[in-house]
Amino acid sequence: MTKTSSIFICQKCGAQSPRWAGRCSECGAWSSLVEETKVEQTSVQKGKKVKREAKLFSLGQVSISEKERVKTGVEELDRVLGGGIVAGSVVLFSGQPGIGKSTLLTQIALKLLKNKTVVYVCGEESPQQVKLRISRLGGGGELANFFLFPETDVDLIISKIQTSKFQLPDSVLIIDSIQTLTTTDLSSVAGSVGQVRESTHRLIDLAKTKQIPIFLVGHVTKQGFLAGPKTIEHAVDTVLYFEGERSGDLRLLRSIKNRFGPTDEVGVFSMGDKGLIEVKNPSLISSDQNSTSRIGLAYSVVFEGTRPMVVEIQSLVTKSFAPIPKRVVNGLDRRRAEMLIAITQKHLRLPLWEYDVFINIAGGLKITEPAADLAVCAAIYSSYKNKSLVKGNCLIGEVSLLGSVNLIGNMEKRIKQAKAVGLTKIYSSGNLPKINFVSKIIS
Ligand code: TYD
Ligand code: MG
Repeated sequence: MTKTSSIFICQKCGAQSPRWAGRCSECGAWSSLVEETKVEQTSVQKGKKVKREAKLFSLGQVSISEKERVKTGVEELDRVLGGGIVAGSVVLFSGQPGIGKSTLLTQIALKLLKNKTVVYVCGEESPQQVKLRISRLGGGGELANFFLFPETDVDLIISKIQTSKFQLPDSVLIIDSIQTLTTTDLSSVAGSVGQVRESTHRLIDLAKTKQIPIFLVGHVTKQGFLAGPKTIEHAVDTVLYFEGERSGDLRLLRSIKNRFGPTDEVGVFSMGDKGLIEVKNPSLISSDQNSTSRIGLAYSVVFEGTRPMVVEIQSLVTKSFAPIPKRVVNGLDRRRAEMLIAITQKHLRLPLWEYDVFINIAGGLKITEPAADLAVCAAIYSSYKNKSLVKGNCLIGEVSLLGSVNLIGNMEKRIKQAKAVGLTKIYSSGNLPKINFVSKIIS
């Protein structure tokens, strides 16, 4: 017989304490104690030596069945997963609340129903709410294989799954969300690090022993933490991060960790009235190309994963009345933006020290590639001069501190993508080797 009880362990130094405390008594770290289960052996067991044989596997004995991957039918997701769901894998969908995790998982579930049984643990919503969402997403038809499980006790969920009649490898378990699950072995509340971690480990065990794929939903805050999915990233097989601005339509599904596929892939979706729609040819041009006011607008092509994406860079330069002018940047690294503002100031000779500069990337995208540098400088210049850049411009290049424009890789794919959306005036290091040439492409 084993008896479980819990213990609090400091995550910094490993000291154990029977009770929670705000500060570790050993190392003095604050808020570092996390509840974990402790399995105690009873006196009968203590005397006995447990006989268990350790097993060695020769690689020749280990067989891998090839029908393992199952396509979800959502191509953008399948690509990010590396070709489909792997049996017995645990995938964590993390993202801010309200970004569309439940929507995406419900859509996947509806697609999987064709040849799978789906068990959807709805810890956050009532079955009625989930059904409402399903009808909003246009799902009807084969719902007999869609099981809703409004339960939050992880042990009850696992035992129900194990004892049910489902053909387990042909089922998919969706947990929405991991922060609502608890085990009675721990005393801490749902959503605490201890509960989230323990519930995840129990579910991983279920996935591996029963070969059932599990999708976990995990909410993260803007800072990317809070009792959260961060603490279980190392344990699960795949971590997908769903990002985008809640106010905008664009949603990117990025793989951060993937034991069975690539980590640089990105799935692109757009949130509409009837759920998420896959975007096959992403382009972020928000304004009307033909409108007369294109002042402060420049276009570039950046890679998101393996896909080129046309982005619109908007800039506004206005006279500043503050002692230190404002630099407001959305969608770009602030330090990089400040560097580009300084380069523009020096090499294009603009008195930006007395101007506020606002930079925004359309659609809520976050650019990490330097390929858009040149376009950022050109957009700033255009706004300062109050004149638009030539129509159909697309500027691709990294800008150095010395004001030269450097070549960027994958130019062919970028140019093809730009032309596909009607941007034919391509400028890069070849025809615009120095940033001060930007003054020549003002119309
Ligand atoms: P949801 O999937 O509930 O977010 P999460 O599970 O990540 O917290 O998505 C919530 C938002 O999506 C909500 O603001 C409503 C919006 N939405 C749509 O715009 N269209 C739809 O078809 C659906 C189902 C939701
Ligand atoms: Mg949700």
